[in-house]
Amino acid sequence: MYKRILVGYDGSKAGKKAFDNAIALAAKDKAELYVLTVVRPPEIGDDVEGEAVIENSRAYHAKLLTPLKRQVSAKDVKGHFEVAVGHPAEQIIFYADRHEVDLIVVGDRGRSKFVRLLLGSVSKQVVQYAGRAVLVVR
Ligand SMILES: Nc1ncnc2c1ncn2[C@@H]1O[C@H](COP(=O)(O)OP(=O)(O)OP(=O)(O)O)[C@@H](O)[C@H]1O
Ligand SMILES: [Mg+2]
Repeated sequence: MYKRILVGYDGSKAGKKAFDNAIALAAKDKAELYVLTVVRPPEIGDDVEGEAVIENSRAYHAKLLTPLKRQVSAKDVKGHFEVAVGHPAEQIIFYADRHEVDLIVVGDRGRSKFVRLLLGSVSKQVVQYAGRAVLVVR
């Protein structure tokens, strides 16, 4: 049913669960799987420091994708992996539009330590603003 599936991955437990669902769906439907992880740029610091922080964070996020790449090739799914920099929900939606994915998969929660709401702000905004199907995994 789905040809292109995008999953937002932040390394959290819920993000892993979202990835597990996305890869299972992709394997079943023989869909291409897009895995995107977004680095938030620091709010403070001068340009040089900011660049160094982003670079460091980028390397950290790229490493998060390594075990997922192995799982994707083991399942014989065609995978695309990307580390973007910016606002997570905005980047997820932007990437989904650019690759015309049929389904976006996110977890209900993420890396935040504070469990205030039932839905994290990233998943909430993706559901609200993405003009395509969204699966929120709980
Ligand atoms: N930086 C990110 N890159 C890619 N996907 C992300 C990122 N942050 C969140 N997501 C996706 O959104 C889901 C929900 O995370 P979200 O950030 O909304 O919750 P939270 O961290 O608990 O709350 P908040 O960030 O609003 O304090 C994650 O499981 C993941 O699928
Ligand atoms: Mg979060």
